[in-house]
Amino acid sequence: MEVDWPALRREAAAAASRAYAPYSRLSVGAAGVTDDGRIVSGCNVENASYGLTLCAECGLVSAFHRSGGGRLVAASIVAGDGEALAPCGRCRQLLYEAGGPGLLVDSGGSRPPASLAELLPAAFRPGDLEERRAGTS
Ligand code: THU
Repeated sequence: MEVDWPALRREAAAAASRAYAPYSRLSVGAAGVTDDGRIVSGCNVENASYGLTLCAECGLVSAFHRSGGGRLVAASIVAGDGEALAPCGRCRQLLYEAGGPGLLVDSGGSRPPASLAELLPAAFRPGDLEERRAGTS
């Protein structure tokens, strides 16, 4: 699938404009496209109890499932300035489950997108549960 990165980045920037980030004052927006062409997005939501903060990617993944699931093909995460932001480690794991190792993540306009296989090598996969849980070998 051909990914319209500028459009995805614009969608992520629009989501960032809705961020609730009064503590860090770093607005973040995440937008993704699914294998059937849906655009889904989310923004970060902070909390006075700091550790409860929801990253923008959490909102994206929630919107992905709410709107029908499938497979996430590409994602752009941007800060309030509209520039690409590297997803945190936890969110790489979240994105992995929605898109798998082939999911492409925006690296900004001047660099090619990176696959999740590059961003999260040797990932813990859903299959590890089946293969490794007690009493199955
Ligand atoms: N943040 C995200 O929304 N996604 C990331 O991948 C990195 C960090 C947010 C969480 C918090 O509201 C703010 O950025 C500062 O850490």
